[in-house]
Amino acid sequence: MSIPLHPRAEAHGKVIVLGEHAVVYGYPAVAAGLPQGIVLEASPRPDPRLPITLTIPAWDLDLELHPGSDHPVARACLEVLAHCDGPVTGWAIRGSSALPSRAGLGSSAALTVALARLVYGPGAGVDDVVAASLAGERVFHGEPSGLDSRVAAQGGVLRYVRGEPPRQIRPGAPLPLCIIPSGIPRSTADQVARCRSRLEHLPSVVRPVLIAVGQAVESGIHAIEHGDLDTLGILFDVAHGLLGALDVSSPALDRMAADARAAGARGAKLTGAGCGGCLLALAGDAPDRLTAAFPSLRPLFVEVAAS
Ligand code: PMV
Repeated sequence: MSIPLHPRAEAHGKVIVLGEHAVVYGYPAVAAGLPQGIVLEASPRPDPRLPITLTIPAWDLDLELHPGSDHPVARACLEVLAHCDGPVTGWAIRGSSALPSRAGLGSSAALTVALARLVYGPGAGVDDVVAASLAGERVFHGEPSGLDSRVAAQGGVLRYVRGEPPRQIRPGAPLPLCIIPSGIPRSTADQVARCRSRLEHLPSVVRPVLIAVGQAVESGIHAIEHGDLDTLGILFDVAHGLLGALDVSSPALDRMAADARAAGARGAKLTGAGCGGCLLALAGDAPDRLTAAFPSLRPLFVEVAAS
């Protein structure tokens, strides 16, 4: 008999609205949970000594969680299970998700949060779930800010500072977010290293850029709370420029941002680690025109409700 798992668990995806990269250095970020996260279902294998399997067809994942595995997702999942004193054998775990993986929409945090919940059960506290998720997230990059895990576990719109309790943000008007996948995969660890290398090379120039990203977050939160979408759109454009200065944008993302603005977006920026992943645009009065400008990229339109 292996250690039991609960039959079903869920977690949110996430989109970073403002503050990526600077959040690694202790500046604030604001992120929104996406309902299209992940659902995991666990069923016992016929022989409890068989390895745990993880199958997520939407992400082309079909893995056995062997202790010697060098697959990063297997290693991350084993870290989470070890952190939670979960089983090491005997379960088949199947996942379904509407999120693309490796696109900066929090797929790995959603997976590790939901996995921790399979062990801990539906009554688990958010802090415990986040701690377990972070054990897995460290496999993907050594110094995660913790933002992804927090939003995956909690949902909503959150102001997050590393090491502090997050604050729930209440939008004064619905936020019309258009998430446009570039289709270009990227590595969060590489992108965090690019930003760090620029900071170490030119600290007196780059530190103020990080501070400006943090200021854009505080102004953005004020704009979100007051339903001031025009100001928020300008802050998206400013943040995209600052992220370019941190060396984490790319010509493809810069072109997409310009195309989104030309198609009526109030503002557009990269979201997440950058150099691939997704563009985040704040839709204007005609969101259909914006989504129609990227027909082959299958944009995802999410309206975050006012509260
Ligand atoms: O993995 P992504 O694309 O969601 O990016 C993570 C955001 C960073 O700020 C770049 C890193 C972090 O740990 O917060």
